[in-house]
Formats: sequence, structure tokens, C-alpha cells
Amino acid sequence: MWKGRFSKQTADLVQQFGESISYDWRMYRQDIRGSIAHARAQLKFGTLTQEEFDSIEKGLKEIETEIEAGEFEFSTELEDIHMNIESALTARIGDAGAKLHTARSRNDQVATDTRLYCRDEAIEIEGLIRAFQSVLVKVAKDNQEVILPGYTHLQRGQPVLFSHHLLAYVEMLDRDLGRLRDCRQRFNVSPLGSGALAGSTINLDRNQIAEELGFDTITRNSMDAISDRDYIAELLFTFSLIGTHLSRLSEDAILWCSAEFGFVTFSDEHTTGSSLMPQKKNPDVCEITRGKTGRLNGNLVSILTAIKGLPLTYNRDLQEDKEPLFDSIDTIKLTLQVNTEMFAEMTINNERCLEAASDPLLLATDLADYLVKKGVPFRSAHELVGKAVAISADTHTPLDKLSLEQLQSISDAYEADAFDVFDLQTALNNRTNLGAPNFENSKKLIEFWETEIQS
Ligand code: ARG
Repeated sequence: MWKGRFSKQTADLVQQFGESISYDWRMYRQDIRGSIAHARAQLKFGTLTQEEFDSIEKGLKEIETEIEAGEFEFSTELEDIHMNIESALTARIGDAGAKLHTARSRNDQVATDTRLYCRDEAIEIEGLIRAFQSVLVKVAKDNQEVILPGYTHLQRGQPVLFSHHLLAYVEMLDRDLGRLRDCRQRFNVSPLGSGALAGSTINLDRNQIAEELGFDTITRNSMDAISDRDYIAELLFTFSLIGTHLSRLSEDAILWCSAEFGFVTFSDEHTTGSSLMPQKKNPDVCEITRGKTGRLNGNLVSILTAIKGLPLTYNRDLQEDKEPLFDSIDTIKLTLQVNTEMFAEMTINNERCLEAASDPLLLATDLADYLVKKGVPFRSAHELVGKAVAISADTHTPLDKLSLEQLQSISDAYEADAFDVFDLQTALNNRTNLGAPNFENSKKLIEFWETEIQS
């Protein structure tokens, strides 16, 4: 492609070191779409005749079909997807192919292809997030009556609804979805026409190209346009965060399916056994999900590090953007898919959840609230209940089974109705504020999400 200036072939090791075709081949569709739009702008400008444009378009479509059928032979010598396709085109159609690269550089070409690729993948991942959210909402809906302890410091805190717990993840995933959409909006801008770094004296209609490729607008600064990889960093951060959220859910699920908790059971299809211990049923999917966070974070750090020392504009270091990007895309897609399937098949063990949630200590705060309603300042109420908890521990008596006398030995603010606090259903129903775990709230939120997910 640059034979004019060189008298020797690129060394084999340099080819091996510098090639990107082994991974960037997957942008072939975007590359072809971009080339057709670029050729159409040349047709309008007059650097291509209608006949030349037609043969370029036809040739590129044939190449696309061949790649799709696995019949196209990629060559490492031709370094990347851009040169592989252009060279195959020229071999096929001759001079017209040699005109395709007019007013274009691989720098604006790769920037265009990558943006298109990210857009296609982001849209797909947004759909996968929606699918996962809808499974979580469905499980929440089917288990609306299930109560389990809510934890802080992994110590039992207060009772919550299982649906409330799952819907917390639906919220997280929704913010992730929002991040993907925001990011997509920011990068859906066409860099084509920026050339190597300084545009071109052949002024193709950049807006026409942008419109054909579905970009919202065109970039304003050619130097920024070809060296900007912000959107890859943003995407990788978003993938990291999705991974982090899934990892937290995995951690919950790992605890829930342990014998100690016993709150849920995963299907045989989504668990694995041990080669030695016959009784084992391991939550490998959850563990691998948690483990994948490492590579997602690693990929984010790779791209940030690759960019940080680069002078404007294009530097070959930028080629290092693709493997982390592709790896994170593949990772996040598979992770979302497998979790969607696994959670859809999960069984909830209502009795075990209820047993754990029926620990009266979970309502110690409600007992303090009871005293507050009787006029006791909260700090004193906290202490008065703390004392009751101490008696309960010392006498090995559950908190709700202390006698009224025992409670009144602490304070006469305790009256017979203090024991009403220990009804779980009432405790949850009393939390009427928006955002709190209560059957009515949960039902409304499930309805909200059902509609939201459709949109
Ligand atoms: N394979 C290259 C990349 O991914 C394409 C751009 C090459 N540009 C150049 N000036 N060498 O970044």
C-alpha cells in the first residue's frame, strides 16, 4: 500500500508484531458500510463515475458475502481489515478500487469503523440488559410474598422483601443501560473526512456520509476525531460497572445457595459438580461472573494506559484499543446471557427465607420506633431496646418472648402493645414511604418495571 517509498519488504517479525487482522476482521461489515458511503460521496464530488461507484459497491458486497460465508482469505501481510478489503476490491475491479481511498486515511477509516462497531454492539448489549432485567422482574413478581433478612456488614439487619432485593439490581442495571445510551449518543458522530489528521483538499460531503451511516452529526476537529478513543474508555468503564453489578449479585447468589443460607437453588443445568466430592453442587456461573470482573477492569486499565501518553494525533499504540474492547464486549454479552438463563431457572426456598427473616432481632429497630412513637427520644429508645436485646441474649430468650415485666424493668414506656411490633407482615406494611420494602410498593415497582422494560 505504500510501496513507492520503500525498497524492501516489511520484515516477517514486524508483520507478525503489527498485524491486527487476526482480530479486527470482525469489523468487516462496518468497514464495508463505511466504504460504500465514502464512495457515494466521491460520486457526488466527481472523483468517481457512476460506473466506478457501481462496481465498487458490487465488489464490496461480494466481499462481504464471502467473508460471511467464511470463504475470504485474510492476509497478515495486508495488516488489517481496511487494507485486506481494499486490496481484494482492487484485485477484483481494478482502477475503480484504487480510487476508493481518495480523501481518506486508515486513521479516519478505523475511527469510523470502530464507532459503528461500538454502536452496533452497544445496542445489542442494551437489549441483553433489558432481557436480564425482565427476568429479575419476573422472579420478583413470582415471589412477591417472600421475606428475607436484609444485611449490613453481612449481619442480619432488617427484614426486606426478596422482590425488593432483586429490584435493587434492576435499578443498577438501568443506570448501566442509561450509561450505554449516553455514551452512544456521544460517540455517534462521524469522523470520516478527517483524513490522516488534517482533512483533505478533496472536500467530500461529510454530512452526506454521516447521514448514510446513521451518525447524528459530524466531528468538529479532525485532529481530535482521529485520535479520540474516549468512547472506548467510556464503554469499557460501563462494561466494568455492569460486570461489577453482576459480580455483586453473584456474591449474593453464592451466599443464598449455600447450605448456611439455603434461600435459593439453581438448576442442575446451571451448576456443576465436583470430581471428588459426590454431594457437591457448585454455583460456578456466579463465581465465573465474579471472576470476569477482573478482566473487564483490566481491559479498562489497558485502554486508559494506552492512551495516556500519546501526543496528537494518530499513533500506532491506538491499535491496542481493539482487543480489550472486543474482549469486554464478548465477556459482557456472554455473562449477561448466561445469568439471564440461570436466574430464570432459579428456585426460591420461601420457608428458609422466612425462617431467617423471623429472627425477632430484625425488628429491634421497629421496637425503637415504637418507643419513639410513645414520645421517647430516638437515642434513648435505641438504648432501651439495646438493653432488652442484652437481656434476651443473657437469658437465652428470643426478643419477642421477653415478658412485659422484663421490658418494664428497663422502662415503663414499654406497654403490652410493644409485642405487636414483632409481626413481620405488619412491620413491612408499616414502611409506606416510597423506596421502602413493602408489599404495595413492590407491586407498583414491578408494574413500573414491566412497562419501562417494554419501552
Ligand atoms: N490497524 C490500525 C489500527 O487499528 C489502522 C490504522 C492504521 N493507521 C496507520 N497510520 N498506520 O489502529
